[in-house]
Parts: sequence; structure tokens; C-alpha cells
Amino acid sequence: MTTINDVKIIELPKFLDARGNLSFAENYKQIPFEIKRTYWIYDVPGGEDRGGHAFFENQEVVIALSGAFDVVVDDGVNKKTIRLDRSYYGLYIPQGLWRTMENFSTNSFALEFGSILYREEDYIREYDDFLNQKQDGKI
Ligand code: TYD
Repeated sequence: MTTINDVKIIELPKFLDARGNLSFAENYKQIPFEIKRTYWIYDVPGGEDRGGHAFFENQEVVIALSGAFDVVVDDGVNKKTIRLDRSYYGLYIPQGLWRTMENFSTNSFALEFGSILYREEDYIREYDDFLNQKQDGKI
């Protein structure tokens, strides 16, 4: 069973250069799993939230490539909010946590890496279902 203590900030390498900076991430090095999927969130209107759900299996790393937003993680007992506002930090979120993305700044751009291919059955979209799964020790 995962808890919010399993959520980790990963500091990505950065090559600072007068021509512009560069960061990168590789499977099993900075990213603690093999990336199977990449998706990104952009053009978020002010006041909108994204990602109110949990996954049975999918692990993620989230990067604020541009702008800033809050990631709220919740294990059914405790919650914490992490603000991502640098393109050289990744947030590792294991499976089995409820997570929401909030307070997007203008022009923010969230990049996400996932450990499995998209599968709707991997989502838990109702908070009460999530709590039941957590209480039953299934996630
Ligand atoms: P969803 O993960 O629910 O968005 P968010 O967590 O940001 O609120 O994804 C929205 C829709 O996009 C979902 O219903 C199906 C589609 N989708 C895919 O087809 N493949 C993907 O990899 C993702 C992340 C979403």
C-alpha cells in the first residue's frame, strides 16, 4: 500500500548554458520505471483542476515544463500539496494515490510520463471507491 511518503521530488540534471538550459530524464535513472507513455496538459483555463483520480497500477513522473501548478496527493489518511514551478524537477507519484492538479499559472505546461499504456480500467475516478480500495488494502 502506497502513502504520500512515497511521493518524491526528483532533481533532474541541468546543463546551464548561455545559449539556453538543458535537462533530461532516462528510464531507470532519473525515472524510476520504464516510460511507456507520455502526455501533456496545456491551455488550462484559470480555475480549472485536472487529474482528480487514482491509478491501480500506473506510476507517473510529472514535470512543470513551463509555468507552475500544484499537485495534491492523498493516500486516504494524509494529503500534501507540492507546487511544481521548475522544469528541472520531476514529481514521482506511485500507483494507489488520489491526485489532483490545481492552481495552474497562465501558460503552464505539464509533462507526464507513465509506466503503463493508457487503460481506462486502471483509473479509479470516484473518491469513495478510492477510499474503499485503500481501506481494503488493495492499493
Ligand atoms: P484524464 O487522465 O482523465 O485527464 P486528467 O487526469 O488530466 O483529468 O484524461 C482525459 C481523457 O484523455 C481520458 O478520458 C482519455 C484520454 N486519454 C487518453 O486517451 N490517453 C492518455 O494517455 C491519457 C492520459 C488520456
